[in-house]
Amino acid sequence: MKIVDTTAALRDQVRRWRAQGERIALVPTMGNLHAGHLKLVAEARKAANRVVVTIFVNPMQFGAGEDLDSYPRTPEADRAKLEQAGADLLFTPSATEVYPRPPEQQTRVEVPGISDILCGTSRPGHFVGVATVVCKLFNMVQPDAALFGEKDFQQLLVIRRMTEDLSLPIEIIGVTTDREADGLARSSRNGYLTAEERSRAPVLYQVLQDMSASLGAGRRDYAGMEQEATQKLSEAGFRPDYIRIRRAEDLEEPEETDSDLVILAAAYLGKARLIDNRQVAL
Ligand code: PAF
Repeated sequence: MKIVDTTAALRDQVRRWRAQGERIALVPTMGNLHAGHLKLVAEARKAANRVVVTIFVNPMQFGAGEDLDSYPRTPEADRAKLEQAGADLLFTPSATEVYPRPPEQQTRVEVPGISDILCGTSRPGHFVGVATVVCKLFNMVQPDAALFGEKDFQQLLVIRRMTEDLSLPIEIIGVTTDREADGLARSSRNGYLTAEERSRAPVLYQVLQDMSASLGAGRRDYAGMEQEATQKLSEAGFRPDYIRIRRAEDLEEPEETDSDLVILAAAYLGKARLIDNRQVAL
């Protein structure tokens, strides 16, 4: 696996692959890689001849008081895992390589509407940071396809919409959430949980599964279901941020007749802000 930290070196390699007619897939990450990221790499290998992984902890998507400084950074372990997983190139740009200008002068990418609800309400500016860095990484790498986990369901829709709105010639591939044996979605932030919190963490996914079963059985009082779920999470020691039933296509509030839904949740457990979702096709 080749490792580069400048856009010039990255482009040089990508140009050579392209000249050989090879298809390139991109897996953008913030590092601290776990089995969920490696599943993205495995899917990328099926979608293309060459897999580029980026590791960049993007300051623009962290708000004031969030965990930018303490976000886990494990570069050596990450490199070993990517070698093993068969990535072809690892791009690890510095902050100035990605953002040569001071933050207030940096061009930004905003995907309005869908960025301002759910996680966007609790984390103002978060999705501007995500859309900006992903757009930049797309332009740096110029991949044919890019892969993102469905755990960050809202992020995936923001990126899909940005790609469509800006006419970027990139196939966006969503990959199903990788889970621990007890159902907890894999996330770098699970590392913030104490052993006791970790034992309670699967309740988040259990609540989503219960709501999914209720929808399947015909319940449509969405607000009542959301309220009951919030209470269950509070009783299990979580501090719920939101739990909402939305249309899977655009995260708008559903009508009773809508059949493609997604239940999305974010809740604090100790220091960790956990997010998860469950898609429901009725
Ligand atoms: O999902 C993530 O790890 C990040 O939000 C991403 C897509 C790499 C952008 O920084």
